[in-house]
Amino acid sequence: LPVNDAAPTRAVPTLPDAQTVTQVKHWTDRLFSFRVTRPTTLRFRSGEFVMIGLMGDPHPETGKQKPLLRAYSIASPSWDDELEFYSIKVQDGPLTSRLQHIQPGDQIILRPKPVGTLVHDALLPGKRLWLFATGTGFAPFASLLRDPQTYTDYDEVIITHTCREAGELTYGAELIDSIRNDEMLAELIGAGFADKLRYYPTTTREPSTKMGRITDLMRSGDVFQELGVPPLCPETDRAMICGNLAFNLELKELLEGYGLEEGANSKPAHYVVEKAFLD
Ligand code: A2P
Repeated sequence: LPVNDAAPTRAVPTLPDAQTVTQVKHWTDRLFSFRVTRPTTLRFRSGEFVMIGLMGDPHPETGKQKPLLRAYSIASPSWDDELEFYSIKVQDGPLTSRLQHIQPGDQIILRPKPVGTLVHDALLPGKRLWLFATGTGFAPFASLLRDPQTYTDYDEVIITHTCREAGELTYGAELIDSIRNDEMLAELIGAGFADKLRYYPTTTREPSTKMGRITDLMRSGDVFQELGVPPLCPETDRAMICGNLAFNLELKELLEGYGLEEGANSKPAHYVVEKAFLD
């Protein structure tokens, strides 16, 4: 047999549901994003999440290894041939303390069963879509914002993103830029689609162009005044929430105060909510 000593171009899967890492980007010392191969059979709706992870350490007595999995929103759009994820790095987090060190060519485990409530199907038709994120809660919206349906279903799309520091906004800011210049989306939706997209980033612990929690800026009316839109109402506005637990609860209460009702896949209504992944 001829000897083939060329390096393999792709690692051979050895894990159950293994996918290969194709790209890793570190945004801050607390945040990174990565792309992996997509199982050819995986179909998902923009905004859904899957369980991903790594093999855990061997059990001290039996030596058996169990997968260590967490829920991660898919940040890439459903038409993309790879999958993208946006993650926090928790130094003592069971999964992300290790996941943050992945490199292109490495393998991760990905269970190909997408689920979630941040989907268009869970909302009734409306005129204006609000997407409210903190931190890595931006991830499902990174998928939805690259989905043509988001722009064909609504006249206006407003994405708010609240982070502690300015550097934590970069992933989202670059994504918004890339969407505004995306020729394929422009071709699918029409040249003016980017004008429908409004981006409202804020920081809470470091100066930036806009400071404050989005919840406070809604209560004060600042955000509505600055964007030139009326406060939310059930007739015209739809919303999706994804952030830390306290944020989700506070925003839910605010939206209920405007008269919006929570929807689900089985019963579409005015808003939906999901917790951002935390290790
Ligand atoms: P703050 O700095 O005032 O706590 P974290 O990194 O802790 O998940 O927070 C991400 C962002 O969400 C931070 O800017 C934080 O603001 C903000 N935040 C935390 N809790 C709430 C809340 N209940 N309502 C609005 N924003 C919140």
